[in-house]
Amino acid sequence: MNIAVMGFGVVGSGVVELFEKNHEMITEKSMQDAFDLKYILDIRDFPDSPYADKMVKDFNIILNDASVGIVVETMGGLHPAYEFVSALLNAGKSVVSSNKELVAEKGLELLEIAKEKNVNFLFEASVGGGIPIIRPISQCLAANEIAEVAGILNGTTNFILTKMIDEQMDFDTALRLAQQLGYAEKDPTADVDGIDASRKICILASLCFGKHVYPNVVRTEGIRKISLRDVAYAADSGNVIKLLGVARKAGADKLVIFVSPCLVGRHSQLAGANDVFNAILVRGDAIGDVVFYGRGAGKFPTASAVVADVIDCGKHVNKRKFLGWSDSAPDYVIDSTAIPGKFYVRGTGSADAFSALADVKRLSAPDAPANEAACICAAASEKALLADLSAAGFSAELVMPVTDY
Ligand code: HSE
Repeated sequence: MNIAVMGFGVVGSGVVELFEKNHEMITEKSMQDAFDLKYILDIRDFPDSPYADKMVKDFNIILNDASVGIVVETMGGLHPAYEFVSALLNAGKSVVSSNKELVAEKGLELLEIAKEKNVNFLFEASVGGGIPIIRPISQCLAANEIAEVAGILNGTTNFILTKMIDEQMDFDTALRLAQQLGYAEKDPTADVDGIDASRKICILASLCFGKHVYPNVVRTEGIRKISLRDVAYAADSGNVIKLLGVARKAGADKLVIFVSPCLVGRHSQLAGANDVFNAILVRGDAIGDVVFYGRGAGKFPTASAVVADVIDCGKHVNKRKFLGWSDSAPDYVIDSTAIPGKFYVRGTGSADAFSALADVKRLSAPDAPANEAACICAAASEKALLADLSAAGFSAELVMPVTDY
């Protein structure tokens, strides 16, 4: 059997290098007699690449070559990745993708085509880069009813928050450093505004709870509003601030899902995931809490997950792996601002505004202005909390869920 790789960027070139470096072992594990890389599709020229003889620019060469049974999609973006992947699946080829946008937006449809054509569509690398998470959820934890999945799903924002927490670097300086180190893009919107994490929590929620969740229904808050004083207030309460994607079952056929900076207990396993590392907690009825930790991005960590999927496709020719979910009703995702919880609130006004609330803890931070207050409190919902505080003359500027992980 032959394979092809579409997109020779950071991840795609990592896939090619890893596949060629460990070729003998990979072939043996794929249970194929021959398992060879035949094409690399990219619109750019790579005349000096050792793989120049495999480069093609025309997608149809791959689509129409019956000897190609598995195609890797590491192009990123929705178009033309979606058109290419659906054409390949329809042509009876298995596809492996690292593309979180593609899986979050089109996963349901692509998995249905794969099922109809009796091929596989695998995407281990789309969440958590090199961290095994898709296969552990769909296979190793398959006996569990999952109640909740929560994770640090974006390395760039975790790096920025770590610099703010450990070195008191302000947000703008930490972002510039992340850009200099090549973690953050020149336009850092997808990372710092939580869009990347939102795509990843959609994939995890779809997988854990069996119904597709689209990114446009996920309440998404990034880390731009976090100040060094929030970091200090959080420390005063024994917590650190982490950007989390959270998906939680909320009764029969309902789901709470959001991306938000959250307070996480300083000794929790999620708090220990720093710098560009990712960590994902899965809460099952038999396993309890289990945490997956590692490199959520990067050339070879991501290639590690992609090539493992390629091997799995090689082992499952004309056999489907159980992986999929169904469509969701329009009211499947409920309003996350309407559920009870514990919240961190920072704003302007007197802390007396919190006196009617339960479990109130006033927080302090060095250099806090006299008219600023920050508290942790329990409330019937975020919406109700903000209404009560506003009625008491307090202007809330930042609200974050306080977690129990
Ligand atoms: N920009 C992403 C991150 C890359 O920082 O985690 C991996 O999806």
